[in-house]
Amino acid sequence: MIQKVKVDLGERSYNILVGENLLSGNDISGLKNIVKDRKCHIISDDNVAPLYLNSVKILLKPAGAITSESILPAGEQNKTLESIAGFYSDMVKAGLDRKSLIVALGGGVPGDMAGFAAATYMRGIKFIQIPTSLLAMVDSSVGGKTGVDLPEGKNLIGAFLQPEMVIIDTTMLKTLPERELRCGLAEIVKYGVIIDDKLFSRLEKNIDKLNSMDLNFYASIIAECCKVKARIVSQDEKESGIRAVLNYGHTFGHAVETVSDYNVGHGEGVSIGMCMAADMAVSLKLMEPEAAQRQEDLLLALKLPTRISGYDPEKIIAAMSRDKKSENGTPVFIVPRRIGMVSIEKNIRREDIIQAIRGRCD
Ligand SMILES: NC(=O)c1ccc[n+]([C@@H]2O[C@H](COP(=O)([O-])OP(=O)(O)OC[C@H]3O[C@@H](n4cnc5c(N)ncnc54)[C@H](O)[C@@H]3O)[C@@H](O)[C@H]2O)c1
Ligand SMILES: [Zn+2]
Repeated sequence: MIQKVKVDLGERSYNILVGENLLSGNDISGLKNIVKDRKCHIISDDNVAPLYLNSVKILLKPAGAITSESILPAGEQNKTLESIAGFYSDMVKAGLDRKSLIVALGGGVPGDMAGFAAATYMRGIKFIQIPTSLLAMVDSSVGGKTGVDLPEGKNLIGAFLQPEMVIIDTTMLKTLPERELRCGLAEIVKYGVIIDDKLFSRLEKNIDKLNSMDLNFYASIIAECCKVKARIVSQDEKESGIRAVLNYGHTFGHAVETVSDYNVGHGEGVSIGMCMAADMAVSLKLMEPEAAQRQEDLLLALKLPTRISGYDPEKIIAAMSRDKKSENGTPVFIVPRRIGMVSIEKNIRREDIIQAIRGRCD
């Protein structure tokens, strides 16, 4: 069964299709209308391309696409303007014009870059997302944020561009390394805590299905998460308000990732960061300790880290003040109030932040 989630953004609205085996076989409704005999440039990485590039070409062909591709070495270190420059020249060589289409095939790294290339090539062309990592399926492929990193920091250059369609084939999760899968699960737990207590309870009750890769269950959870993100993005496309709740766990998490020199993965950082934020909420009497414990128990059941060892808490605090999400040097915190609700807080005292960080550092 294919589930369809609509992201409602007026003229920029689009559908997210979620299901098993979407790439092989099924005639994806609406795809032909988007592709319409255009030149399609597929952007992917060298882990994903050998596995799925051919299937994507086969999918696009009946819609009349003439395909070309840029394949970059996998990894965040290649999410640079230099890689984008390489894509532009591949696209010029392949004869892409303003009517052409970019297809993002991969995790968040190729996804963010393909989107940025689409936002800027010839002042902007259309693109489709085919996310292949769990994180990309529930988060980065939906919402229209695109971009690249600078040596000075992650995601400092970017543009907003909504895709024409997002195609999520959960079968692709079978080849995703387990650690990457767990990182995606951290973002799924995040959606439950920020806005959806029913989703959170469903996760608690179905740990076995999550840990045993029940793809049918994944399809339904991914669709739920896309609905949550779609709802938030429809209310606040350019992050002037409510969209900030998606950063729950990320202010602490980014700092942890940075200080570990990225040995701690993004989702792992988010998992630890959500625990720090919850500890802070409990000590400020903004959340009951039982709710914080439920969050920690779920993260542990999904084999995610909730503490870090071997790093100086002071360095984490320093890294946090450099985060681009801080306003005038004071970090903005998304603070959990109960499972399914958070608030945005700007005036948290430094002592309380330090205490929350220290409490999770061994
Ligand atoms: N645009 C947004 O709103 C948004 C939101 C969250 C994160 N992001 C960005 O997303 C990026 C992280 O995304 P990610 O974790 O997907 O990173 P990624 O693209 O580097 O993928 C992680 C790893 O998994 C591999 N992989 C992906 N799918 C696979 C599959 N099906 N089979 C085998 N291997 C596979 C990749 O090759 C890579 O090695 C970061 O750059 C982050 O800034 C963007
Ligand atoms: Zn994240």
